[in-house]
Amino acid sequence: MSADTLPEPFQNFVNAIRGHFADGKKEAELWQCVSKDLKTLLANPSLIQQSKSWPNTKQGDGPPSNLLFYEDPEYGFVFNALVKGPNSVTNVHDHGPSWTLYGVLDGGEHIQRFSRVDDNPVGRGPAKLKLNGEFDVTPGYIDVVPPWEIHQETNGDHRTIGFIVRSQKSGTFKQFRYNLKNGHIATYKGPTQIPFNLA
Ligand SMILES: [Fe+2]
Repeated sequence: MSADTLPEPFQNFVNAIRGHFADGKKEAELWQCVSKDLKTLLANPSLIQQSKSWPNTKQGDGPPSNLLFYEDPEYGFVFNALVKGPNSVTNVHDHGPSWTLYGVLDGGEHIQRFSRVDDNPVGRGPAKLKLNGEFDVTPGYIDVVPPWEIHQETNGDHRTIGFIVRSQKSGTFKQFRYNLKNGHIATYKGPTQIPFNLA
């Protein structure tokens, strides 16, 4: 996928991210820097306006899909969107070894974070989870999700549109879903990727 085909604000965003990689920044610092660049992009009226016509990619407790806008041929990061219909709830899940910047464009939702309090290794159950934080996010908020962080998102009675930057494309790595009741852990290949053009 070539960045040349993207609208200019997204080309600029790609170039900024590539610059952080080229500078040799360590992961945690790099994704904090990208988060600042994303903040500017999220305020772009053209992005907010076009997102209103994007199709829902998740309904209720059904499986999520992602719109896929861009995959960087050099560094592997991607631009996605997750468009939740009203009253959507995700599984309790992690994003495996990937970093995720989840920027809210429209709507809002409640996020709960969990940590494991058992001694089993990553990916092996039974998992005992403890709620270690919850908060509401609104347009303009960017949730920086580090590797293996366990979380769940619950929507309200409205659409919620998230513009997402991932360090690698979903489906190229293993991630997990957690059953709060019985501690079962299931392997998950991530949301289906639907190629989609940015305007
Ligand atoms: Fe997530």
